[in-house]
Amino acid sequence: MKIAVIGTGYVGLVTGTCFAETGNNVICVDIDVTKVQKLTNGEITIYEPGLEKLFLRNLKEDRLNFTTDLTEGIKDAEIIFLALPTPPGEDGSADLKYILGVSEELGKILTDYKVIVDKSTVPVGTAAKVKAAIEKNYKGEFDVVSNPEFLREGVAVDDFMKPDRVVIGASSERARNVMGQLYAPFVRQGNPVIYMDEKSAELTKYAANSFLATKISFMNEIAQLCELLGADVDQVRKGVGSDERIGRRFLFPGIGYGGSCFPKDVQALVKSSVEVNYDFQILNAVMDVNEKQKLHLMPKINAYFNNDLKGKHFALWGLAFKPNTDDIREAPALYMIDELVKAGATVSVFDPEAMNNVKKLLGDKVEYAENQYAALNNADALIIATEWNEFRTPDFLKIVTSLKNKVIFDGRNLFETKAIKELGFHYESVGRATVN
Ligand code: UDX
Repeated sequence: MKIAVIGTGYVGLVTGTCFAETGNNVICVDIDVTKVQKLTNGEITIYEPGLEKLFLRNLKEDRLNFTTDLTEGIKDAEIIFLALPTPPGEDGSADLKYILGVSEELGKILTDYKVIVDKSTVPVGTAAKVKAAIEKNYKGEFDVVSNPEFLREGVAVDDFMKPDRVVIGASSERARNVMGQLYAPFVRQGNPVIYMDEKSAELTKYAANSFLATKISFMNEIAQLCELLGADVDQVRKGVGSDERIGRRFLFPGIGYGGSCFPKDVQALVKSSVEVNYDFQILNAVMDVNEKQKLHLMPKINAYFNNDLKGKHFALWGLAFKPNTDDIREAPALYMIDELVKAGATVSVFDPEAMNNVKKLLGDKVEYAENQYAALNNADALIIATEWNEFRTPDFLKIVTSLKNKVIFDGRNLFETKAIKELGFHYESVGRATVN
């Protein structure tokens, strides 16, 4: 099939590349000239494991092309995906200016039937707005479909190629058939394509992300209780998660969720609820808990150093909001750095992928270490903020010899408390007993 993808950000690039991978002809359109030039020259603009290989292969096979010319890009396309940014406005609601702007442009240049697909995460009712924006200038036949993505950063290619489900919100049978044909290769193993109306599809995306965020905040509160009552959250998590109705995944307590999706989507759903005079109480609590959780380690650090962090030096492992990405949006590490520096401490940081992004954001506010062990030199304690695999089984001898004190504050519960006790560390984590 011939496909156009408007917007070559994270979602657009993964979507375009993966559709090309199943033999479709894909043209990606973006207004950013430099980006389009880079992509055309085979230079990938985002970090996502496994994507570059597919990107280069499909570029070489001429199934994947890039242009800044919208008219040229959509000319032959049967399906046009909108993968445009929906940044939160000042009040937390998703700003639709890019999506509706492009929709109006499309109305001016459409000449025959096309399926226009909202891939971005958009508030309920956006498909109808897109339709109206196109109809301002175009009176011919077309359909607007909502097809939310459920991609996790770091495993987006796998999530796209082998989705748990594909949600298609389309009231027209013609559009459903086109979309069903497009996704058939992705659901060969039997996972469902779920057809519904446009509004329900739009809400499904927000509901899914908000539910997952709720699971995390819930477990973070259970972790707080475990600390106060002397229970162990790891054991509680296993006991709870083996109930199939609850499930084992997304029950890991830590220093809060971050990233580009959960914080933005929970906030947007709350905002949408307010607009229809509904007070979504649970989600307000989910956000509050998460804000507090980002600084969960701070009282522990303060208590250990007698509320005097002035002149103390910390090693901080992990800056990305989660492993396998260089994304630092809403990353808990940044909130902690802020608190530590405010209290007069210095911080030496290391992250396998996110160092450049942090340099751009923080400049010389922190020191940047060459590797995870270099960050430890002369530090008073080690703080862990992201569960990168390389932090899971570190060389403890190196940690012991480099740190001034044998102290670890672990925001992601990477180590077994028993093993760490044998090594003689003072170790504080989330929802588990302090090891002395
Ligand atoms: C998420 C959704 O999973 C995806 O379906 C959606 O399309 C976009 O948002 P992503 O933001 O890439 O994807 O990350 P995810 O792996 O879901 O993790 C989100 C956050 O939750 C991370 O900060 C992670 O550290 C945190 N988390 C996750 C926990 O704190 N505990 C858990 O048990 C799981």
